[in-house]
Amino acid sequence: MKNFLDIAEINLNELRIILDETVHLKTSRIELPKGKIDAKPVLNGRIVALLFKKPSTRTRFSFDVGINQMGGRSISVSSSEMQLSNAEKMSDTAEVLSNYVDMIVLRTDNHDELLDLEKNSTVPIINGLTDFSHPCQVLTDIFTFEELVGSIKGKKVVWLGDSNNVCNSYLQSAEKFDFEFTVSCPKAVMPVKSIESSHCRYEIDPEKAVKGADLLITDTWFSMHQNNLDRNQRTLLLKDYSITTDLLMRAKPESLVFHCMPLYREKEISSQVVDQFFKVFLSQAENRLHVQKSIMKWCFS
Ligand code: CP
Ligand code: NVA
Repeated sequence: MKNFLDIAEINLNELRIILDETVHLKTSRIELPKGKIDAKPVLNGRIVALLFKKPSTRTRFSFDVGINQMGGRSISVSSSEMQLSNAEKMSDTAEVLSNYVDMIVLRTDNHDELLDLEKNSTVPIINGLTDFSHPCQVLTDIFTFEELVGSIKGKKVVWLGDSNNVCNSYLQSAEKFDFEFTVSCPKAVMPVKSIESSHCRYEIDPEKAVKGADLLITDTWFSMHQNNLDRNQRTLLLKDYSITTDLLMRAKPESLVFHCMPLYREKEISSQVVDQFFKVFLSQAENRLHVQKSIMKWCFS
């Protein structure tokens, strides 16, 4: 039994096992109706709790559908429907749920709650996004890049805009997968984790940052755990880091753009760039399903 909490905690061999298995899982679904059970239903007889303290479209649906395809059952609840909303402790919740379900996926705005859940549960725990990290998204992005382009090793990957939970999971991945990762953002929103390392660097100037890039990535300027921020002030602070056609022209001609969605046109990315890369964003979103199925299989291996 294994947990999938953060990319930093899992060694490269294991991550590669998950990615390799994703190829098989994805290929085996070609032409099948979405609700048809997999030929080898790995979650047969298992129940998975999807515990969401924050909104979600992709993560919630892709886990739910994936569990069903794997022959398992899911119970999807928002924390407002649970005693967690009456201040019941996550540690107590963990012990109780461990007797009901075989695995728990948690989305929360407090990473410590994820750690509490993991410490007190006896079933595998998967991080479905916290204020600190979003490993399911970034492992899926790596899968998507390798599916569309080839190995990510040695590639130049540039993050633009707010350096948030998704960015943190990229920072954890760069050395493991051996790609060069540049964060370009105002000093006021620098990542909590120290950036400078053998594979990661900071560049305040977005035009310099994207020079020679193979992949540009951005995300909303208003993450769910930051909804108390002044939106106008933040938009002014981040506006030069928006991915526009002009900025994109400074990267490699064949460069890709990634966005984990939800996206906000004319904020972190221009409508024109969205139109150019929307199919890529849809591949990222679709691949969440296949990668997470592989993660769940790995957790029980
Ligand atoms: N990218 C992502 O995690 O989307 P949701 O918030 O819709 O789950
Ligand atoms: N950084 C965003 C990601 C949403 C998938 C957030 O935390 O809201």
